[in-house]
Amino acid sequence: MEQHSNLTWPLPKDDYWSTPFAETLLHRLDLSPGISVLDIACGSGIPAFYIAEQVGPSGQVVALDINIRQITRCRAFQRNHLPWLQFKCADMKNLPETLPQFDRISGNLSFMFFRPDRFDVLKQLVTHLKPGGQIVLTFPSLGTFDSIWNRIDQEMTARDLTKERAALAEYIAERPSAQDAREWLDALGMAKIEVTEWPLEIESGSGYEFLHHPLLRGGFLDDAYECFENQRLAEDVMTTVSGDLSSFLPLVAQRCAMSAWMPSTGS
Ligand SMILES: C[S@@+](CC[C@H](N)C(=O)[O-])C[C@H]1O[C@@H](n2cnc3c(N)ncnc32)[C@H](O)[C@@H]1O
Repeated sequence: MEQHSNLTWPLPKDDYWSTPFAETLLHRLDLSPGISVLDIACGSGIPAFYIAEQVGPSGQVVALDINIRQITRCRAFQRNHLPWLQFKCADMKNLPETLPQFDRISGNLSFMFFRPDRFDVLKQLVTHLKPGGQIVLTFPSLGTFDSIWNRIDQEMTARDLTKERAALAEYIAERPSAQDAREWLDALGMAKIEVTEWPLEIESGSGYEFLHHPLLRGGFLDDAYECFENQRLAEDVMTTVSGDLSSFLPLVAQRCAMSAWMPSTGS
């Protein structure tokens, strides 16, 4: 994707997580003026605003999120601009039947929230794609931050924490992989399937900075804490791990973009 400097609604430059994932999404998404797009799990509007500018006033974008505060914030940010972009509060796992079909479906950092039955959600979602339409979703795929999980597992092993290790192993195995994405798109009869991964390195200091890193804590480290019934023990293990950051650098996420096309009617 080319980032044109004269865009009114570019991706935010200072976002070191959503923006790199959105760049991979936009690299795959085929956009042109006049088309309709459904953007799921829109959050703060990355990349819904960007997409709306690309499709222009003859197009239509519906951006949805389950969190009403996100939708309210997006609407406040939008004010009366891009009137062909509509923000709606809805559950992407249970879309209203009245929702029409779109030329494109996009979802940046969305696919991991399709659990527990990711295939079923994907199957429902593509019913909202027109024949000949394209879906592109991104997510951090299997392998993301494995160096962190390995170090936590090492600490659990050293302390003989069998139950906690089993919970961590279950969490690690449950993450969707690029291979899962490819197989599910294939099972749905989609065409021109492309699933690609790009590494993304995340910077962090050690100790407190690692444990309270805005991205790592909210999206990932909380999952490690959940592997413990005893939260004081969790804090102790995680504090030890955080003091040993240099042993498990770099912190690398896998940016996975899955793209596929609904076969045209009659093809
Ligand atoms: C990681 S954020 C991504 C937001 C945005 N697309 C971006 O790239 O910054 C994930 C978003 O998914 C939303 N979400 C989670 N489960 C959802 C669901 N079942 N239906 C709709 N949105 C959901 C969350 O509220 C959150 O805003």
